[in-house]
Order: sequence, then structure tokens, then C-alpha cells
Amino acid sequence: MPHLRKFSTVTILLATGLLSGCRLDMHIQPRVNPLARSDFFTDQRSARPPVEGTVARGQLHEDTYFYTGKIGNSPGDYMPFPVTKDVLERGRERYNIFCAPCHSRVGDGNGFVPSRGFARKPPSYHIQRLQKAPLGYFYDVITNGFGIMPDYASQIPPQDRWNIVAYVRALQLSQNASMAEVPAGQKIPSEPPSFRDLGTGATSPVTAPKTDSKPEEEK
Ligand code: HEC
Repeated sequence: MPHLRKFSTVTILLATGLLSGCRLDMHIQPRVNPLARSDFFTDQRSARPPVEGTVARGQLHEDTYFYTGKIGNSPGDYMPFPVTKDVLERGRERYNIFCAPCHSRVGDGNGFVPSRGFARKPPSYHIQRLQKAPLGYFYDVITNGFGIMPDYASQIPPQDRWNIVAYVRALQLSQNASMAEVPAGQKIPSEPPSFRDLGTGATSPVTAPKTDSKPEEEK
């Protein structure tokens, strides 16, 4: 029966057409893809910019000094939070990761990167100009870069930038301390550690316990 066969083919075709029509409703949803063009808005952007003046939660940045290191247009010279041992330790860790490759661990500018041909050797932190530079200035250099030095705003969050600033100041003090600043009772230079076991290079040396007798004389 050719008629019947034709009929059933048509039915099947129709049915598939209708069914897939239903499925399309689910596949093509009434929404726009990210960055898609839109004819609805005059600027043809489907994504709407936030209303002017909108601030996302946690991004108010009310404490301008904390986020810029500046008071008005000039760098300030105080830390926005108290400097504790933790702050300095975190600062040292971050400094050694992000800054020491160029500025060296003591901050004299003789880092590894300039020694391998980086276009310019960074200045030492121990020159008078930078010794006198206010703390906010260092914060600003990290945030915005300086000359050919790139900025570290995206790698180092504000809190860590300040931690580094505190540590850089500590480095500066450490390289320029006077005898008057040494706490009473502390010897300069400090005594070399005496070892009971020097270690093999693969193992750490073991320091000898402190005694009151004068070291090394009897040997
Ligand atoms: C890729 C190498 C590099 C790294 C990493 C780097 N610096 Fe620098 N820095 C430089 C160079 C080079 C200069 C000198 C730039 C110039 O004069 O154009 C400089 C200059 C400076 C100055 C002096 C600005 C002045 O007034 O002379 C400060 C302060 C400073 N860097 C701080 C930092 C701190 C803090 C970090 C770590 C967060 C850091 N730098 C990481 C290369 C680097």
C-alpha cells in the first residue's frame, strides 16, 4: 500500500519536526551570552555597565591611605596599621619572593635578574634619597611601578604591599644602624655560633649548648 507508507513517512517527519521544535525551546533560552551583541540597547552591548557610583560589596576602599599610600597627592610617612613581628616576617617572605630577584635580599640592587642583563640595575635602598623617602612612596612604587620596573598591583594585595614596605624600611635600618641603636647587653658583631657537629652539608650543623665559660680558649 504505497499510500499508507507515504502517510506514515509524513507523520514521522511531522512528529520529529514538532518534537524537535519543543526541544529547541529548552536549547535556545531567552538570555544573552557573555559579551553578545544586542539590538535592544543603543550602545549594542547586551551586558549593562553597573549604575554609576555602584560599589561592589567589600570594595568601598574607604581608607584611601591604605589603598594609595597617599594623603592628597603626596605620599604619607606612616604605616596604616601597627608593625608587629608577624608583619615583618610576612613582609620578608613576600619581599624575598617578589622584590629580591632584582633588588637583592639586602636591597642593594644587586639582584640576580639585573646581573643577567635586565635593562637597568635598580637603585640601592640605602642611598640617601630612598632612605628619606616616605613609606607611602614605597607603597606607591609597588602599586604603580617606577620607570622600567613593572607594577605589582595584581600580584601583591594591599595588605602585603604594606608588609613589604615595613620590611624594606627594616632593611634600610639594618644597613645603617649606629652603635647607639644596639640594645644594651648585645654584642656587636655577635659571636659566631659554636658547633658541636658541623654537619655534612646534607644535614644541619648542631650548635653547642651555651656555657658561661669563655669559648674556644682551651682548644
Ligand atoms: C624585574 C626587576 C624588579 C623587581 C622584581 C622589582 N623591582 Fe623595584 N626597581 C627595578 C628597577 C630596574 C628600578 C629602577 C627603575 C628605573 O629607574 O627606571 C626599580 C626601582 C625601585 C624603587 C626606587 C624608585 C626610585 O625612586 O628610584 C623602589 C622603591 C623599588 N623598585 C621597590 C621595589 C619593590 C618593593 C619590589 C617588590 C614588590 C620591587 N621593586 C620589585 C626592578 C625591579
